[in-house]
Amino acid sequence: MRIGVLTGGGDCPGLNAVIRAVTKSLLGCCQAEVIGIEDGFAGLLEGRTRPLDWDAVSGILFSGGTILGTSNRADPLATEQATERALAQARTLGLDALVAIGGNGTMTIAHGLSLRGLPIVGVPKTIDNDLEGCERSFGFDTAVATVTQALERVQTTGQSHGRVMIVETMGRYAGWIALEAGIAGAADAILLPEIDFNTEALIELCRQREARPRYTVICIAEGAKPRGGQMTVERTIENSPDPIRLGGVAYHLRTLLEPHLRSEVRATVLGHVQRGGAPTPFDRVLATQFGNHAAQMVEAGQFNRMVTFERGAMSSVSLAEVADRTRQVPLDHPLLQTAREIGVCLGEG
Ligand code: F6P
Repeated sequence: MRIGVLTGGGDCPGLNAVIRAVTKSLLGCCQAEVIGIEDGFAGLLEGRTRPLDWDAVSGILFSGGTILGTSNRADPLATEQATERALAQARTLGLDALVAIGGNGTMTIAHGLSLRGLPIVGVPKTIDNDLEGCERSFGFDTAVATVTQALERVQTTGQSHGRVMIVETMGRYAGWIALEAGIAGAADAILLPEIDFNTEALIELCRQREARPRYTVICIAEGAKPRGGQMTVERTIENSPDPIRLGGVAYHLRTLLEPHLRSEVRATVLGHVQRGGAPTPFDRVLATQFGNHAAQMVEAGQFNRMVTFERGAMSSVSLAEVADRTRQVPLDHPLLQTAREIGVCLGEG
């Protein structure tokens, strides 16, 4: 068997752990020849590959990023010509199947190509944790750890100066990172795309805390917006399948709060530090399980499905069920209630 492996979309910690596990498992279980495709679907369209053997994937478990490179611009579904080219390249490379490690965009492309006859196993990757059908994607735990540490750090400086400290997380249209990191990092307010915030409630919170303990920490997801307002778009990338890049709502919130407070307000946008660096032990284990499970699915001929992690176990779901869908924080999620009951402001009221 000849199996291609690619990483698509934005990178995240744990990609190398999946590449390592899927390659070692495929070499072991089916004596497969494993071909790494460079820079995601861009490399497939251009036929850029490199062999993946035991040595090529040894020593990469701890490292962030992806040894194969990635791209969130190339879209083989953009035109019929591009689709034909991707399928022709797969035939030229002699691929019996493709393991596509990526997020929502990658799974949508994988689904499209699988409908045209390319056998694919998807592996869910995203710091945003917003993939339909998957409780936990690898990369998320590492991002939460990074944001949690940032919240701890702004707390001490906020305390010294008696300031309101706003920390903005990534997450696109889902608030998973902000919610978990906000709780782990003891944020006083957590603002999510799923709950439009009431600025008055935040002003009130900050005013109360100005007396004692003098500082307030707000964790805000990049997709959050004030009631009646719009999301903050940082830029639009013309030739990207998903052109909108959010960012900067922390600065907007500062302008909404500052005129009404005695304290100074400072905003920190964490950006790509959340995507870089070594994966946490949890993500290393999860990514290894995902890679191993993907290889088992290849061996069993279970194609056109994405590996998932549900209720603590490896499973899979059809690509048709995950393509073009994302998973937001449900409004009845138990963590929201926990946050409320320990006095965290969710911008409601
Ligand atoms: O989907 C992962 C993610 O990091 C989002 O949280 C963020 O909105 C986006 O990608 C940033 O994309 P880029 O790396 O293209 O700026």
